[in-house]
This record gives sequence, structure tokens and C-alpha cells, in this order.
Amino acid sequence: MATRTSAPALIATRPTRPAATAKSHRTRVLQCSATLVAAGLVLTACGSSDDDGGSGSGPAGSTSFEGRGPITYVAGKDTTGSVQPVLDRWNKLHPKEKVTFIQLPTDADAQRQQMIQNAETKSDAYSVLSLDVVWTSEFAAHQWIDKLPEKQFPLDKMLKPVVATGQYRDGLYSVPVSADGGLLYSRTDLLKKAGVAEPPATWAEMKSACAKVKKLPEAKDMSCYGGQLQKYEGLTVNFSEAVNSAGGIVTDENGKPDVDTPEARKGLDFLADSVKDGTIPKEGITYLEEDSRQAFQSGKLIFLRNWPYVYSLAEKSEVAGKFGVSPLPGLNGPGSSSLGGHNVAVSSYAKNKATALDFAKFFSNEENAGTFLKEASLAPPYGALYDDKALVGQYPYLPVLKESILRAVPRPQVVQYGDVTSKIQQEAYAALTGDKSSAQALKDLQKDLEKAAAQ
Ligand code: GLC
Repeated sequence: MATRTSAPALIATRPTRPAATAKSHRTRVLQCSATLVAAGLVLTACGSSDDDGGSGSGPAGSTSFEGRGPITYVAGKDTTGSVQPVLDRWNKLHPKEKVTFIQLPTDADAQRQQMIQNAETKSDAYSVLSLDVVWTSEFAAHQWIDKLPEKQFPLDKMLKPVVATGQYRDGLYSVPVSADGGLLYSRTDLLKKAGVAEPPATWAEMKSACAKVKKLPEAKDMSCYGGQLQKYEGLTVNFSEAVNSAGGIVTDENGKPDVDTPEARKGLDFLADSVKDGTIPKEGITYLEEDSRQAFQSGKLIFLRNWPYVYSLAEKSEVAGKFGVSPLPGLNGPGSSSLGGHNVAVSSYAKNKATALDFAKFFSNEENAGTFLKEASLAPPYGALYDDKALVGQYPYLPVLKESILRAVPRPQVVQYGDVTSKIQQEAYAALTGDKSSAQALKDLQKDLEKAAAQ
């Protein structure tokens, strides 16, 4: 029971500066400029090249996708249970080239660490990697993944900003399997009972809706809002979204940090003040995606910021039929999401790369994207699936989600992403715990990001 699907204005208006960022980002993609070094972080999201690659450029001595046999697929823990059935289908069709699923922790930073460790030891244990969209540049620049033959993938059927997450300098290094856009999950049953007709478009509306809902006896112990605020990649996402949703930016279109601004402060203040005044529960600063989902499903939260995967799981939980989905709220109107998602890449150190490439094509094809959407409400990279009548029947919020992904603000696409994200996490967390004021945290973050840019 999605709500507001018929109110495109909710997502049509975006804060001016992020909109500019998104536009510039698109321009970069289309124009395929060279690496940009504009006194900023080294941007690496250049446009699509016609080079069909086809040859692995990894340091492991492999110059082409050769060799057939068993492979592994390495990804974060599959909380939706939708991956193994797809792997089983591959294994049935390819009995001599079976894929084994290696599941890493759910925490994005822990996944990144394990994948990097594996690459640094030049291990062949990981063949096909499920990369977070923000890691492509770093993995490609270090030659931990191979350049892919891009003409062999149906990229023209995929949403452009999503394809751009797989590009680094002169080519394609990872292929989208699922996109991710942040959504606001609301307990529409309680909103209705409290006389709130629509989910909130602004943070102020959200807080006032909570005040009304909390007057209901069954809601008096509930908290208003939860997101992902533990010190990990999820905090980078939630911080960036808050900054963008207040009209600020973290870095500009040239990769130059510009986060010490009144707009960014309003964004960070929303999070820090919400922790202070109890809008966000105390334990909210320990939440990863799964903790916040559990809190919402067990009736602890009125509103939840989370990714699309939560929809199908929540529909099987205690709150089934009692919640709706709408765009993220912002300071003066609907907010903007960070662009998330996962892409497949072939490890430079993999054996059996011909099989690995075929598997990457299979795993990222439109049919499987449809399966992941149907079974696990994962946002597909393929534009047409958002307009499919049967799918929109199952997930009425698909048009809203498509818009939100098209308008989502990418996190910095930089080689030194690990440094950038850990500085963001450190400063944002200091503001959440009250160790620093938002103003001080942003001042320090600006300096840190400038330092990272100068390296
Ligand atoms: C989701 C997103 C990913 C993001 C992560 C943060 O997995 O798809 O892009 O980095 O959440 O926790």
C-alpha cells in the first residue's frame, strides 16, 4: 500500500544545489571527459567509451577472459534469500562451471575490507565481486578488477546514472545488478488514525505527524524516526542525504569539497537535533540497515529511512499492510536520496575468467533483475521494469522509486573513497554524539576533505 504515487511534485522539486550536481554528473557521463582534477578530489566517473575492451587488464597477468570452470560469487549477506535460487539456476545450466556463493558481513565497510584484503594478497578465492556502487573507481584504479567488454552488456537499456557507477576513466569495470534509492517508510495505519492524511514531505511535517501519532495509546512508546547512523557507510549515506535535502552538497561537480556551508549545517543539525530531542531513539546511532528494519517491523518506529529491499521483507512481517512508502523528506520540501546499489565485477586475480564474465552477464541480465524485483523488491537498473504494469501492481511506488534513482545524488566517485568516507563518518558521528557542534564538525570535515584532495 504505497502512498503518494500520484504526487510527482513530491519528487519533482529538489534542492537547487544537488540538482545542479546531478545535472553536472550527467554531463560528465555523456561527454566522457578525461579525469577531472579541479583542485578537488580526483573524479573518476567519465563517460562511456566505445572501446569494447574484452581484455582483462588486471595485474595478474591475464589479458583476456579465458578459462572455464568453477567460480565464486562474493557479496554481502543475502538478507532477502533471493540470490541462491538464481545461482542454482546458473549451476543447473552450467554443471562444469558451478558458482559457489561466498557471503560476507552485511556491513558495507566490512565487505570492502575483506575484498581489499583478498585483492592485496592476490588471492584467486573471489571470482565475481558484488561491489557497492561507490567502490568501482577505487577497485579499478588499483587494478583489483578487470575492465569489461562493455558492448557485451545491454547498458542502453539501463538507467544512465546507474550505468555511470560502473565506469572508471576509459571504460566499464562493473555492471549494475541492483540500484538503490532511499525511501521513507511510514506507518500509514497510525498516521490515518491520528488524522494525518499524507506522509510528510518535510522534516517539520514528519515531527508534527509524530507528535500526533504519539498521542495514540498504542504509539506512546514508539520513536519517531530511524535511519542508519552507526559509524559505517550507511552514515555517509544518511549524512549526505540530510545535507543534500537541506540544499547543501558534500563535494561539487568537480569533486571539490564544499561542506562548510549554512545549508549543510541545517542538514547535519536535523540529524544531531533529532538524536538530542529523542525524535531518533537513543539506540538509533547504533543502527545499520537491518537493525533499523527490525525496529520498524517490530513497531518501534513511526518512520524509517531505508532502501527498497525492506519493502518485501516488511510485507511479510508484523507491519504487513500497515505501512506506505514515499520520497525522503527534506528541509523545505521533498529531500534527495544518495545513489546506492550493487554492481558485479570480475576480480583481476580470478581463475576461469571466461566463466566469470559469462556469469556476470547472466547475473546482471534483465530477467534476473525482474526476479530480484519480484522476489526481494530490489530496484532494477533496467528502466522498462519500472513501467511494467504487473510489477507496478505489485509495487505501486515503482514510478516514485525510478524518479528518486534518476535524481539521486552520487557520493564522491573518487579513487581515495575509503579516506573520504571514513572522514565523513568520523565528523558526522561526532556531531550525532554531541562531541562536536555541527558547525565544528563540518569545518573539520571540510579541512579533512581538502587534505584528502591534495594528496
Ligand atoms: C546499500 C546501498 C549501498 C550503500 C550501503 C550503505 O547497500 O546499496 O550503495 O553504500 O547500503 O550501507
